[in-house]
Amino acid sequence: MKYIKNIQDVRISKIGLGTGRFGTKVSESLSFDMLDLFYEGGGTLIDTARNYYEWVENGRGKSEECIGKWMDSRGCRRNVCISTKCGVKNKGHDWFINLSKEMLSQELEESLEALRTDYIDIYLLHRDEPERPVEEIIETMQYLKEKGKVKIIGAANWSFERLYKANEYAKKHGMEPFRTVQTWWSLAEYKYEMWNDSNTTHMDENMYNYMINNNMFGMAYTSQCKGFFQKAVKNGLENVDEFLKHRIETERNLKKLDFIKKYCQGNNVSPTSVVSGYITSNPLEGTALVSCSDMSQLEDILRCCDYELEHEAISKLDSL
Ligand SMILES: NC(=O)c1ccc[n+]([C@@H]2O[C@H](COP(=O)([O-])OP(=O)(O)OC[C@H]3O[C@@H](n4cnc5c(N)ncnc54)[C@H](OP(=O)(O)O)[C@@H]3O)[C@@H](O)[C@H]2O)c1
Repeated sequence: MKYIKNIQDVRISKIGLGTGRFGTKVSESLSFDMLDLFYEGGGTLIDTARNYYEWVENGRGKSEECIGKWMDSRGCRRNVCISTKCGVKNKGHDWFINLSKEMLSQELEESLEALRTDYIDIYLLHRDEPERPVEEIIETMQYLKEKGKVKIIGAANWSFERLYKANEYAKKHGMEPFRTVQTWWSLAEYKYEMWNDSNTTHMDENMYNYMINNNMFGMAYTSQCKGFFQKAVKNGLENVDEFLKHRIETERNLKKLDFIKKYCQGNNVSPTSVVSGYITSNPLEGTALVSCSDMSQLEDILRCCDYELEHEAISKLDSL
């Protein structure tokens, strides 16, 4: 397992286990098996959110509760890195964003209780609230950090402009800036229609360059491109699920698929080595968040997690 190098106070594995469905769609027993396998494979980063699966009945907090119970039963809290997110409540599929000091303080206490811990390693704003001044938001994050209950602060789904403004303000006033951004980031070309959600963002050039120049690290969601490349190589493009194809099958992504097939043949590696390696070997330090439907997918990811994808191959994929 590889680890993020530019963060010293927390050990962050470059594969992060996404646990959104844990305790709801994924049974507690399978969730524990996956967490055990991941931990035994050197994984430390466990990614969740206060509002995951709030869209199913009584779902709010279930993922955090499941992780808390697992950490308690294994006695491993100090050896893992918990990333959770705040600032959103759901009613059905509608998202209500509130980044006020009161809301974030209250949610932090709820997360700590659910996770059975007294600190969060990485505390992320799940979305932005563009009407609220960044100055107020970053000061609130400071307040939470100074209480000693949060180690690293970050932003998920923030635009470059807002992130830049927040971090420059923090630096100017001697405060802690956001040290990470969680966003859609993978070797696949991004198109708005793939998500159809104006509240999410993807890694763009400005954000990428700013993060490198400011020693930040990226948290890549959709890092496996929903399994598109693995499934197309293994089963043939014609057998890939129509919905998945509708999302990922663009002209550029088909060129990338072609490159991956040839690369895997030439180097005798599996497509997962390339898909994960795009993030874990990237010049911008990054962790690939993965969610797996079954144990075999997680086993595959762990088998490939040490692969060093050459920067040349990463540049080639970017250029296609
Ligand atoms: N901050 C945010 O707004 C945000 C948004 C999205 C996600 N996230 C975080 O990022 C995590 C990962 O996101 P994601 O689920 O979108 O990304 P993903 O890992 O790219 O997609 C997951 C899907 O990829 C397929 N897959 C995974 N491993 C595979 C393998 N080895 N071989 C073949 N197929 C494989 C599976 O599809 P099948 O089920 O079809 O087999 C799985 O359900 C989430 O769990 C969450 O923690 C955050």
